[in-house]
Amino acid sequence: MTSERQADNAIRFFESRSYNYDDTWHADFAKRFLSYLPIQPGQQVLDLACGTGLLSFLEAEAVGPTGHVIGIDVTPGMLTVAAYKKQKASGKCTNLDFLRGDVLHLEETEALKGKTFNIITVASALVLFPDPNAAIEHWAGFLKPGGVITLDSTHPRNLVSGMVLERTARRLELPMPYNREWSQSESSLKDVLESAGLQVEKVLTVENQAGYGRRYYPVEEWDDFFVENVIVKDVARTFANNEIRRKAQGVFKEEWEKLAVDGKVEEVDAVFLAVARKPADGSRYIPTGLSKEVVFTGGCRCSSIQYTSTAPPSDITFCHCRACQQVSGSGFLPFIDVPTDSLKFTSSSTLKTLKLSESADRTFCTGCGAPITMKYHFQEEVTGLTMGSVDLDSLTVAQPRVKQHIFLKERAPWVVLPGDDAERLEAAPFAHLLVPKSS
Ligand SMILES: C[S@@+](CC[C@H](N)C(=O)[O-])C[C@H]1O[C@@H](n2cnc3c(N)ncnc32)[C@H](O)[C@@H]1O
Ligand SMILES: [Zn+2]
Ligand SMILES: [Zn+2]
Repeated sequence: MTSERQADNAIRFFESRSYNYDDTWHADFAKRFLSYLPIQPGQQVLDLACGTGLLSFLEAEAVGPTGHVIGIDVTPGMLTVAAYKKQKASGKCTNLDFLRGDVLHLEETEALKGKTFNIITVASALVLFPDPNAAIEHWAGFLKPGGVITLDSTHPRNLVSGMVLERTARRLELPMPYNREWSQSESSLKDVLESAGLQVEKVLTVENQAGYGRRYYPVEEWDDFFVENVIVKDVARTFANNEIRRKAQGVFKEEWEKLAVDGKVEEVDAVFLAVARKPADGSRYIPTGLSKEVVFTGGCRCSSIQYTSTAPPSDITFCHCRACQQVSGSGFLPFIDVPTDSLKFTSSSTLKTLKLSESADRTFCTGCGAPITMKYHFQEEVTGLTMGSVDLDSLTVAQPRVKQHIFLKERAPWVVLPGDDAERLEAAPFAHLLVPKSS
C-alpha cells in the first residue's frame, strides 16, 4: 500500500489551472522574483515547482548559453504548457530543460543524480509543502558550496479566507493541501532557512503580489467565504460530507471572527521573500550572536501555542486572587516570570488577549482554554508565564522553587496552603501600583 503524497494532491489542484496559469499575476511576480536573484551568466540553476516555467525562462535568459536551467514540476498540464512555450521559442532555449518529478523526492529524478546547482528557486510553492524545514533541508543538498536558494512564503493575511480555512481544518483534524500557519513574518521564513543550515542574506516583504494591496471584508461576510472555500473550491475534498461541512461552518465563523478588528477582516496582498546561501566550505551555517540558547519551552494543551525562553524562569509565585481562581477554575494560579524580550512564541495562532483589569493583560489559548501569560502595564519588560504551561522536561536549568503566595486576602477558604517556606502576602509587593477596581 502506498500512502498518498503531497504531490498527488498538488496535481489535482493545479492540473485544471495549467492552461490559463500564465494569464494570472504569477507572470508579473516571476519578473519581480528574478530581480532579487544574484544570478550570473554561466550558472547552473534548478527551478523547483516551476509550473509553466514563468521563472525558468527568465532564468535561462539570465544565465545565457554557457549556463543551464532545469525546471521541475509534477503537474503534467503545467509541463505541457512549459514544453509548448519552449517549442515556440524555436531553438532559442537550448539551455533550458523541463523534467517531471516530485520536488520532495528529488533523489528519484535520474537526471539530477550527482548534480549540484549555483541557484535554486522555489516561487509561490513553499507553502504547499507540509514540512517546510524538511523540504529546504532536502533542497539544500542540491546546492553547490556558496550556492543560493531563493523562495517566498505567504503573509498571514494573504488570501485571508484560505488561512481561516486552514485553521478550521486543523481544529477539525482534517488534512489540508497547504501549510501556511508557520509563515507569520519575515523572521519565520528566516528561521526555517537557518534551521536548514543556510545563511540568510536578505529577507523582505514583497507588497502587492497580485496587485490588490489591502482589502477589508465586513465580519458578517464570513458565510460567503465559507461557501466559496468549503463548498465550491474544495478540490482536495477535505470537507467531503455534510456532517464535516456542518461542523466546519461553526469553526470557520469563529476563526474568521477572531481576525476581525472593528468589524472588518483585513486581507494583505504580500509575501515574504528570502535569499539564503550555503556556506562556501559546504558546511551548515550556524547562526551566531543574536540567537541565544533556548533555556526552556512551553505551550498549551492543544499545542497551538508554543513558546521558547532564552532566559531562565524566576521562582514561582502562587496568585490566590479571585481572577486567577476564576480563569484557572482552580484555587490559585502559579506563575514564573521571564524578561519579555527573552520570550518568543513559535506558534501562536490561537493566542488571545484577555483584559480583566486596567492593570494587566492576560493571554489564553482559544483552542483549549489554557491560560498562558500575564503582563502588568507598569512592568511591560517582564512577562508572567503560567507554570502549568512550562514544559518541565525542556528546562536546561534547575526547576524553579515556590517563592511566594500572594493575594491571600482573596484565598479560597477550601484551599489548604502547602507547608512550604514561601513568603505569604495578603496582597502583592506591587499592590500599590495596581489600578483600583471600579465597582
Ligand atoms: C503556484 S504554482 C507556482 C509555479 C511557478 N513556480 C511560478 O512561480 O509560476 C505551484 C506549482 O507547484 C507544483 N508542485 C506542487 N507540489 C509539487 C511537488 N511535490 N513536486 C513538484 N511540483 C510540485 C505545482 O504543480 C504547481 O505547478
Ligand atoms: Zn491550546
Ligand atoms: Zn491573580
